[in-house]
Amino acid sequence: MNETILKMERICKRFPGVNALEDVSLEVKRGEVHVLLGENGAGKSTLMKILTGAYSKDSGKVYFKGKEISIRNPRETLDIGISMVYQELNLASSLTVAENIFLGNEPLRNKFIGVINRSEIKERCEKILVELHISLAPQKKLQELGVAQLQMVSIAKAFSSKAEIMILDEPTASLQEEEIDELFSLINKLKKSGVSFIYISHRMEEIPLIGDRITVLRDGKKVETVDSNTPVEVLIRMMVGRELKELFPKETVDISEEVLRVKNLNRKNSLFNINFSLRRGEILGLAGLVGAGRTELARAIFGAEPVDSKEIYIDGKYVEINSPTDAISSGIAYLSENRKLFSLALSMSIFSNITMPSLKEFCIGPVLRLRKEREVSKKFMGKLFIRATSVKQKVKFLSGGNQQKVVLAKWLCSKAKIFIFDEPTIGIDVGTKTEIYKLINLLAKEGAGIVMISSYLPELLAISDSIIVLNKGRIKKEFKREEATQENILYYATV
Ligand SMILES: Nc1ncnc2c1ncn2[C@@H]1O[C@H](COP(=O)(O)OP(=O)(O)OP(=O)(O)O)[C@@H](O)[C@H]1O
Ligand SMILES: [Mg+2]
Repeated sequence: MNETILKMERICKRFPGVNALEDVSLEVKRGEVHVLLGENGAGKSTLMKILTGAYSKDSGKVYFKGKEISIRNPRETLDIGISMVYQELNLASSLTVAENIFLGNEPLRNKFIGVINRSEIKERCEKILVELHISLAPQKKLQELGVAQLQMVSIAKAFSSKAEIMILDEPTASLQEEEIDELFSLINKLKKSGVSFIYISHRMEEIPLIGDRITVLRDGKKVETVDSNTPVEVLIRMMVGRELKELFPKETVDISEEVLRVKNLNRKNSLFNINFSLRRGEILGLAGLVGAGRTELARAIFGAEPVDSKEIYIDGKYVEINSPTDAISSGIAYLSENRKLFSLALSMSIFSNITMPSLKEFCIGPVLRLRKEREVSKKFMGKLFIRATSVKQKVKFLSGGNQQKVVLAKWLCSKAKIFIFDEPTIGIDVGTKTEIYKLINLLAKEGAGIVMISSYLPELLAISDSIIVLNKGRIKKEFKREEATQENILYYATV
């Protein structure tokens, strides 16, 4: 375990207006899980993109098994045994598990004619899946699989192509607790056979569980490489540069009159007889497994999904909500989990995105007050520590976490009184997570009602006043804050 397999030395990378990496060095040993830690925009993904050949470096050297390598394109890195495990998967969804694992690397019946040997593909796939203890049918189509399973396929694919280093960029972001356990045991198994991992995550509690060593980046520079027995507080201080007192701040807020009531919401085959009410100042957690219908319910309330029946009352009055526009004008904001698909105009500026739902406020007659738009946006950039060159920067050039913050800013700016947050802290660093909880607390304090969907139970338990557990489209249980625990939520989510 002491052999150095990868050495990146004094890597520099500049983008217009930012030094994404300055003299960053990283050393990975064979069979270790090396955690890369840093705030949003610290340079983690950029370093990995340089390693895999997606970006070119400005300067610095990379050594693999003692030899300097020049990385010119992603194919080459793959060929020498460095593999990026994507979560969203650059796999072919209409092909089967087996076909995907051997895609681009198919065993041929006859190498002169190039006919693919399908039975061999299936057989070899089965062997790999058994070896890795992955319970998946080789002939299943990828479109039938969930995120966790896709990730497993991606890892199996890397394994079959003899990858010696696998890079996982926030692999647990949308996984359930049990799926995380499965992923970790897969990683441990691969470690034993000598595979090294570079592991990026914003979930601090995972680090001692899975990491062997940790390299912390801050502002594009390397802070230090330390052992995994380094206390979490110390790691946080290294990455954020300050002490964080409370990871999950919760304020006591007066919970007053009802602001939202959802009655008799039904959708064929997916949502059944949903009834709940939300009061001003209340944070209502919505728990459940992926596929339980949480996002669908949120979108149905918001008017973004058709329903067979629903009654929505706001401040006690019945309102007709048939589209997101209706919802927004009734004061409902929905922060979608899928920021790229639903929430952001990627090639537009930060400020245009932030002011989009509240453009009316920035107009005098037909004239848009650009200066005011920018001023307000700047305020939110500061509040949420959005790291960018200016409010005019295009959203597509921001790091993942910073894009998520723009989505937040957009809705915070919109003066809604009901907020539905769908996985608001995915991909967000610890420091900013805390800021987001504070903002949610603040919204509650100002009298908004909040529905919070999260698969991240520590946060859901910490900030919710009550928790509804959704299971296969039905409300299975409603807990008060004091009654809810990780175990009993999981119980009702799975029975
Ligand atoms: N293609 C690009 N063009 C311009 N700037 C970029 C580009 N890619 C990254 N950056 C900038 O480089 C910096 C580092 O970004 P990077 O994506 O590496 O951060 P990260 O550590 O992965 O953050 P996160 O935790 O949010 O994913 C950021 O300031 C980002 O805006
Ligand atoms: Mg990143």
